[in-house]
Parts: sequence; structure tokens; C-alpha cells
Amino acid sequence: MKRSNPELIVGLDIGTSKVACIVAQSRGGREAEIIGVGQHPSRGLKKGVVVDIESTVQAITRAVQEAELMAGVQIHGAIVGIAGGHIRGYNSHGIVAIKNKEVSNEDVGRVMDAARAIVIPQDQNVIHILPQEFMIDSQEGVREPVGMSGVRLEARVHIVTGAVSAAQNITKCVERCGLQVQDLVLEQLASADAVLTADEKELGVCLVDIGGGTTDIAIFRDGAVRHTAVIPIAGDQVTNDIALGLRTPPVEAEQIKKLYGCALGDLIEQDDEIPVPSVGTRPPRTISRRILGDIIEPRIKELFELIQAELRRTGYEDMVAAGVVITGGSSKLEGMAELAEEILHLPVRVGEPMHLPGMETVVRTPGHATGVGLVMYGLHNQVASQAEPLQNPAIAARENHMDTSFGGVFRKMRSWVQTSFG
Ligand SMILES: Nc1ncnc2c1ncn2[C@@H]1O[C@H](COP(=O)(O)OP(=O)(O)OP(=O)(O)O)[C@@H](O)[C@H]1O
Ligand SMILES: [Mg+2]
Repeated sequence: MKRSNPELIVGLDIGTSKVACIVAQSRGGREAEIIGVGQHPSRGLKKGVVVDIESTVQAITRAVQEAELMAGVQIHGAIVGIAGGHIRGYNSHGIVAIKNKEVSNEDVGRVMDAARAIVIPQDQNVIHILPQEFMIDSQEGVREPVGMSGVRLEARVHIVTGAVSAAQNITKCVERCGLQVQDLVLEQLASADAVLTADEKELGVCLVDIGGGTTDIAIFRDGAVRHTAVIPIAGDQVTNDIALGLRTPPVEAEQIKKLYGCALGDLIEQDDEIPVPSVGTRPPRTISRRILGDIIEPRIKELFELIQAELRRTGYEDMVAAGVVITGGSSKLEGMAELAEEILHLPVRVGEPMHLPGMETVVRTPGHATGVGLVMYGLHNQVASQAEPLQNPAIAARENHMDTSFGGVFRKMRSWVQTSFG
């Protein structure tokens, strides 16, 4: 029989290629174990955004049912990912006078409020306010301001906003499945929590989640989020290029990509041959695998060149000492890390979700980075609210690299979503 369990943490990754539902059981503190995973192909999204509610609802229902069955529990709510080209990231800062010459929680709250006071387009709303660092008088780089003496408190933050309609549509889909949206979390931040190490975030790292519809970027330095961006090129384009280039149906092209695809032509043996089904009644052919490589390489090259341009434009190219970590389903393509290193001139590794135990054989794959990261976000949030309710918001928020227990941003976000649906 299914049991209802308040200790469950559920991550729901509604991607362009698949919907994944990951269920974890809290083991107390920061410990949790993954006990169920459900996955279903997704057809209702384009470039990370819901375009067909009915089929998205169906895919979510299937993925959730599968996860429920595996875990033997009933799911009532989930931490849900949000992504897409409508997401914007801004760096902002706020300044306030310290009230009693010693920074209090209230001062931190006020300075965060001051930092979030930026003008954003009317159709956008705030998803995250991520603290980067505090400054007290002229002292920079303060991480835990509470209790420190001074007269002027300054905060630097990264603000993530997203289209109101996109968030509403995701919420609508999830609620139609009878589930509550506990939080909406930017997908690359979830992925980052699942695959990056604390050292990498400290030294400087660029996380690149290459999915089906979009490639999502998050840059960390000194333990905080510095920049977020979305590039509208990912695995779907590669499949499309293969379908056109080899004149084969998209389903076959996807299969060929996964079985024989390689991002770096130099890694392919000269005499390597592969079978290609033709369109219509024509018989299948055999072609050189190098031809396939020649189709894939330029697209992936274009993607990494765009990432490089983004790193240069924002001035972070020389600041990501720990290099680049690629994740997402498309990072499984052979030769991805090698090609990325060639173009970016930075060390590149493929990141798999590694911080949570349980069901490793199913979950430890780059395609589940977001789903596992959403669970981790839920876990950290729960811990923050259980262990130190609003005690030191700056610490809690920084540890999660996400706005967590302070400021009520998420409460605002949730009430914004709820108000929108009456
Ligand atoms: N072994 C593989 N080799 C190459 N590509 C792969 C492999 N496995 C999966 N992919 C590609 O990964 C993509 C799906 O990745 P992922 O599951 O991370 O996407 P998603 O989260 O559903 O999409 P998005 O995040 O863009 O909304 C597809 O384009 C798929 O073809
Ligand atoms: Mg994804």
C-alpha cells in the first residue's frame, strides 16, 4: 500500500526531452536517500517552455506514477524546475545604514530588500535573489555580516527573473496532476548543486547543462552565483542536423546520434562505418562514421563558441579557474569534453549527480543532474527551516547558493503564482 510521508523530498524536472521525477527520503539533517525515479518522454515543451499543457500533464503524470510505484509512496508536492529563454539574470547591489552599529538579521533583510529593488519588465517576476557578498564600510568580501560592527552595510546579489506566463503554465501543469508546487527553482542552479563540488564553486567554475531544447549556464566564483544565461542550442538541433544531413527520419537520427555520434571528428577511426535507415521504402545504407562526425561537430562547435562569447562578454573567462563542468543528457555525446577543451582552452569535465546516495545505477547520469539537484534544494531548504529558522539568513542562503529561508522571496513567488490562479 502507498504511504503518505512528510519526510519525502520530490524533484520534478520538466525538460524538453523528458520529465523526470526523483523521490528521496529524508534521513535527518542534510542526509537523504533516493528511493524512487520515474521518467517519461516529454512532448509538450519547446526550448524549455511549456507549449502544450495536455501532453505535459500526461508526461508528468506518468513520470510521477512510475516514481510512486518504485518508491511505494504517494507524492503530493514537488520542487519544480524552471528554464527557458525568458529567464534573465541581473547583478545588483543595495546599501543601508546599520541600525545599532552592529549588523543584525534585520539589517541583512533590509539590505537584501534594497538590492532587489531593480526595475524589471512587467511580464517578468523574481525567481531567486542570490547573495554574493556583503561589504561593511570599506571592507569587502564579508560572508557572514551578522554581529559585525560598522555603520554601512552593502550587499551584492544575483537576481534571476522569469516570464510570469511561463511560471504559471508550469504550475498549471503540475497542479492539474494533483501535485502542489512547493518551489520553482532555476534548472541550472539545481544541476549545479548536484554536480559541482564546493571547491569548484569557490575557485570559479562555469556549469553548462546541455539538454534537448536549451543549454543553461551558471557561473560561480567565491562560492556564489555570478552569472546565469541560456543558449537556445542543444541536443535537438544536433538530431535535426543529422536527420537532414543523412536524410533519415528524426527518430532514427536520434538513435544514430546516441549510438554512433561523436562531437570531435579527430576521435573517429578513418574506416569506421555505420548503418543508416533511409526515408520511405529505400533500403538502409552504410556510411562512414566520419560523415556523421562532420555533421555533428560544427553544431557543437557553434555551441561552445557561443559559451565562450558569453564568458568573454561578461568578463568571467579568466575567473573560472576550476574550468567548465558540462552536464545534461547531451554531455554524454562522445568527444564533448575534448571539443569543449579545444575551443574554450579551459579544463572541462562531464558532471554526474554525485551528492545523494540511493539508486545510483539509475540516477548517476548527467541527464538526471537537474532532478537530483531539485531534491538537494528541497533538502537544504528543509534543513535551513528546521535547524535555524531565520537565524542567519545570509549563511543559509549562501550555503545553498540560492535564496532559501530569508526574505520571503519564495513565499512571494508562491503567492504570486497562487494569486494568478485565484
Ligand atoms: N548517449 C547520448 N549521446 C548523445 N546525446 C544524448 C545521449 N543521451 C541523451 N542524449 C541527448 O540529450 C538530450 C536530452 O538531454 P536532457 O535529458 O538533459 O534534456 P531535457 O532536460 O529534457 O531538456 P532541456 O533541459 O533542454 O529542457 C537529447 O537531445 C538527447 O538526444
Ligand atoms: Mg534539462
